[in-house]
Amino acid sequence: MEKSNQQKNKEHYEKAYQKYSIKNILWKINHLDFFLDKAIKTETSWHGLYMHDFASQLKGKKILELGCGDCTNAAVMAQLGAEVWANDIADTPGKIIEEVNSQQGFDKPMRFIPGDFLKNELPDQSFDFIVGKAFLHHLEIEEERLFLKECARLLKPEGEARFFEPAVNNKLLDELRWYTPLPGRRPSKWTPKKFRAWKEQDPHPDRTFSSSHFEKAGKEFFEKAEIYPVGSLERFHQLLPARKPINNRYRQWAFRNEKYLPNFINRSFARSQLIIYFQPKHHNLKK
Ligand SMILES: C[S@@+](CC[C@H](N)C(=O)[O-])C[C@H]1O[C@@H](n2cnc3c(N)ncnc32)[C@H](O)[C@@H]1O
Repeated sequence: MEKSNQQKNKEHYEKAYQKYSIKNILWKINHLDFFLDKAIKTETSWHGLYMHDFASQLKGKKILELGCGDCTNAAVMAQLGAEVWANDIADTPGKIIEEVNSQQGFDKPMRFIPGDFLKNELPDQSFDFIVGKAFLHHLEIEEERLFLKECARLLKPEGEARFFEPAVNNKLLDELRWYTPLPGRRPSKWTPKKFRAWKEQDPHPDRTFSSSHFEKAGKEFFEKAEIYPVGSLERFHQLLPARKPINNRYRQWAFRNEKYLPNFINRSFARSQLIIYFQPKHHNLKK
């Protein structure tokens, strides 16, 4: 029997998180200014999720993180003063949260909601923010719709849902990407057999990642959707040698400068995007 998308993700990530390092997370949150500043300047997902000075908005806020993964971001948000609730389909993040809580002694310890989040029994309008860092694109479209509906139910009227996700708005660039080999990470389409074998165990469903899809999907349950393209220049860092200072310097330069490009170029070339949904349509949740 073919595995469900959820099962495939759970198995894949349970394995990926086996070698988690509490020491590493603790180091990051205890050197928070240094870690976050560097991550925001050079790492796409941190750069995207923390756009518009997100870090300064978190103190005292109640936040839900979906697909919390290795829990680094959940711990960062807790260290910034938020009350953090987190969910992941894999169970290991629950253990990580327990261990970080016991070693860090947050004023408000993080809470983990295990298993299928759509079965949660949290009360309406519980959260100020809901965030996902590279999460929505792991869902099939109908599953995503149910998650967005749940986000609208769980957010306060002034609340905001914020997702950092990949963007594919240009078919040609996307195809070129699949033909670019990433040694040690994935084979390219130049080696079709290896590529197919890789694809079979890849936990990403075949679905759209276009900005217009995310705009439309959000507007069913939110009055406003804003999309910020990320990585139109930064994406080319993959052409430079990995883990070399020149790569980091290029990324910093690219993030600083790509925002000056016209929006239509940014949108077409973006590798990722920050999606923000505001004003949940609480009256629209019966459907
Ligand atoms: C690409 S990882 C991102 C992890 C983390 N947010 C980060 O930035 O490192 C995607 C995460 O989503 C989780 N995930 C996938 N499908 C899920 C679902 N249906 N419900 C909850 N979590 C899910 C995976 O287990 C994985 O931890």
